[in-house]
Amino acid sequence: MIIFFDSGVGGLPYFQYFRQNNPAESLVYIADRINFPYGKKTKQEIIYILVSFFEKLIYQFQPKLVVLACNTASVSALSTLRETFPHIPWIGTVPAIKPAIIESRSHCVGVLGTDRTIDDPYITELAEKYSADTKIIRIPAPDIVEFVEERFFKANDAEKQTIVSPYIKKFRHAGADAVVLGCTHFLLLQSVFRVVAAPDIKIYDSIAGVSHRIETVLDEKGVRDKIGEIPAECRLILTGAAPIEQKWLKWALDLATEVSVLHEKP
Ligand code: DGL
Repeated sequence: MIIFFDSGVGGLPYFQYFRQNNPAESLVYIADRINFPYGKKTKQEIIYILVSFFEKLIYQFQPKLVVLACNTASVSALSTLRETFPHIPWIGTVPAIKPAIIESRSHCVGVLGTDRTIDDPYITELAEKYSADTKIIRIPAPDIVEFVEERFFKANDAEKQTIVSPYIKKFRHAGADAVVLGCTHFLLLQSVFRVVAAPDIKIYDSIAGVSHRIETVLDEKGVRDKIGEIPAECRLILTGAAPIEQKWLKWALDLATEVSVLHEKP
């Protein structure tokens, strides 16, 4: 079993991409909606939530690998989780800044994320590591995170463009020709980002990179499941008592064979 984890629906594009390419693997996706949004919490709060939740999840699922499909959780807690549970291979999700810096011709790269991710020194360290002469424009977009979690499934195309456009306008105005989607929630709007950003700004995400990294680690450890060996399970688990909308449920069931709700606070 592989666990994919996010504060909500943001990690689902990662889960979906990996599942399409690796149908033999059993997966469980956990959306920690009761603690959503992570982006407004402190690093310490996020570490506390994740360490206590993963104590239970690891006991329950005995995962062979865990994917933190959440940039905020990864920049805040990945190193602590690795230290606390050293027998588990952890794969984090971090903004794809490196390719954006390498390919940017204007030497100006935009990074869009949650407040927590944008504030983390990790972004500065990455920028300094790959190019000290590239200007990094960091903008937090908590309203897009909220929109995706709460309204994405009922929103029309015009509403989606309206939420994305002001951010691209700011990056364009600042001279960026590359924008990194540094929050997994934004991936549900990636086609809208690409339309609004064309033709002068390229959008970067980490979906293929993360999926490839999972496959590499499974191969290195020799723990890949083979098709037909055991039927692959695919579950979605949501924390919190919020009712699930029918439209959401239909979409979720297309992704997973089973959806369950964990009603108590984990
Ligand atoms: N999906 C999360 C990320 O990638 C953040 C959403 C939240 O604020 O909970 O950063």
